[in-house]
Amino acid sequence: PPPAVIAPSILSADFGALGAACSETIENGADWLHIDIMDGHFVPNMTFGAPVVSKLRPHVQRPKTALGKGTFDCHMMIAEPKKWVTEFANAGCDLYTFHHEAAISSTAASDPVSTSSEQTNPKELIRFIHAKGMLAGIAIKPDTEVEVLYEVLDSAVKEEVPDMVLIMTVHPGFGGQSFLEGMMPKVKTLRDRYPELYIEVDGGLGEKTIGRAAKAGANVIVAGSAVFGAPEPGRVIGALRRAVEV
Ligand code: DX5
Ligand code: ZN
Repeated sequence: PPPAVIAPSILSADFGALGAACSETIENGADWLHIDIMDGHFVPNMTFGAPVVSKLRPHVQRPKTALGKGTFDCHMMIAEPKKWVTEFANAGCDLYTFHHEAAISSTAASDPVSTSSEQTNPKELIRFIHAKGMLAGIAIKPDTEVEVLYEVLDSAVKEEVPDMVLIMTVHPGFGGQSFLEGMMPKVKTLRDRYPELYIEVDGGLGEKTIGRAAKAGANVIVAGSAVFGAPEPGRVIGALRRAVEV
């Protein structure tokens, strides 16, 4: 099975001191930083864009190997995932995770606020992300069936296969929500079918819920409020890691 990866979400960090929050989190034992990008369209909230990611990059050493320590794991909760690939590649994003729902949607093209009508399908988007030198992840919201991912995961074309799948365990948009245990069968289904796949879970994870996610087969653990809300974030990161490694 793939290694345990702990990826604290900086959504719950102090936005006024993000650089220090990032470097301290890596010093506290985190593997990756999970960076939640929200555009106010795909989800009812906004965070930050590529300029912020680029200013954070010097605070954390880039990974020496693919998916290694220091990976910037950008979770793109945005309506037009193709539009921002190049900017995020240039900003220092290592792993660009887009939502399946956004890639297949045609609403972005008819959105009057949108300046780009270019939509794409998941396979094309994964190829494009790879061509820009990043790893590619594909995410699904709680209401999306896991079977939609088989098309890319089973592709015979290497460039079209994602490097990670993200199973959302809350409805995306906000930190601090309750873990949706009903998502665990999706994780189990993927783990049984793809023993080597990087499977990330995101939302409501902490010391109380990690056991269920680990048992189902998740190996990449995002935690926002559980890490940044703790008096000793390093202790929580260690506890999450031990729960996945057993
Ligand atoms: C939610 C984000 C998550 C969020 C998780 O839309 O994708 O990454 O930060 O926060 P917690 O761990 O507090 O549920
Ligand atoms: Zn996230």
